[in-house]
Amino acid sequence: MRILLTGVDGQLGFELQRALAPLGELVPSTLTGRLPGGGSGRPLDLSQPDSIDAVLDAVQPSVVVNPAAYTAVDRAESEPELARRVNAEAPQRIANWCARHDALLVHYSTDYVFDGRTTTPWREDDPPAPLGVYGATKLAGEDAIRASGCRHLILRTAWVYSARFANFLKTMLRLAGERGELAVVADQIGAPTTARGLAEVTALLLARPERLEGERLGTFHCVHAGQTSWHGFAEAIFTRAVDAGLLPRAPGLRAIATSEYPTPARRPAYSVLDTQRLRRVHGIALPDWRCGLDTVIGELVTF
Ligand SMILES: NC(=O)c1ccc[n+]([C@@H]2O[C@H](COP(=O)([O-])OP(=O)(O)OC[C@H]3O[C@@H](n4cnc5c(N)ncnc54)[C@H](OP(=O)(O)O)[C@@H]3O)[C@@H](O)[C@H]2O)c1
Repeated sequence: MRILLTGVDGQLGFELQRALAPLGELVPSTLTGRLPGGGSGRPLDLSQPDSIDAVLDAVQPSVVVNPAAYTAVDRAESEPELARRVNAEAPQRIANWCARHDALLVHYSTDYVFDGRTTTPWREDDPPAPLGVYGATKLAGEDAIRASGCRHLILRTAWVYSARFANFLKTMLRLAGERGELAVVADQIGAPTTARGLAEVTALLLARPERLEGERLGTFHCVHAGQTSWHGFAEAIFTRAVDAGLLPRAPGLRAIATSEYPTPARRPAYSVLDTQRLRRVHGIALPDWRCGLDTVIGELVTF
């Protein structure tokens, strides 16, 4: 199996590079072609959709794994055209190429396709209603992939973080070193999900590619089990970081409402994803989000 992997300098792409390496020939790519830690891969700029076919023609992958995306949720409100090209038009081009060449496309999407107006976990077939540009462009990408007729897996995930790159956990640890007290939103509920867990699920799904047909393809929700608020996540991060010796002490933590922390993009209040379909069809489930946090904190300790 020859796998073209996009965005290996992002959180998920980085973990996928490690997790997918044993499965076949992996062709890593980034926007510039430069790989994190040195070396070079395929340059692939998803904001230039017209350039995509040539790269795919040159690589001839049997599987395309596409974690690359325009992920700046707030900035997307003022750059909707760029977000649309990367999150909607590029996946459409990749999907059309995959449909023509009978290649499998593994793509990632987001809990932000939902409006968050429930208090029970969202199922794959619940009606999407994104609140912002990022969610709307990701949904357009999903729709284009489904319309292309290519064999695909779309893994919707949420609140992704890892020991590397920019994310909520890294921001909290940095701010804890700078301030005595932090105010964190307590009325948005979700499931913090490790990039590593998501990459491992992807590797499991791709380990038996011949079995990927019928209901084993399509859209699946993939997040760690359980739920918390950003405030609850921050609290758990500080407790574990102090225990692990990453912080001398936890900062004061104040719970605030979303209305007290205005951002350009509106976010869903409740975006926990129901993962029963992944468990029923593939027998795969990620453990509780606190287990994922322990893994990432453990990794940070070894740096
Ligand atoms: N992060 C989350 O909380 C979250 C939540 C739900 C769903 N997701 C989805 O999960 C997937 C992985 O997210 P992540 O957290 O790993 O994102 P990330 O860390 O922001 O990485 C995104 C990657 O996409 C690349 N990229 C952006 N624009 C590009 C372009 N024009 N051409 C080529 N590459 C480009 C980035 O490269 P540069 O760094 O060079 O720009 C980076 O490598 C995405 O599909 C995202 O929508 C993420």
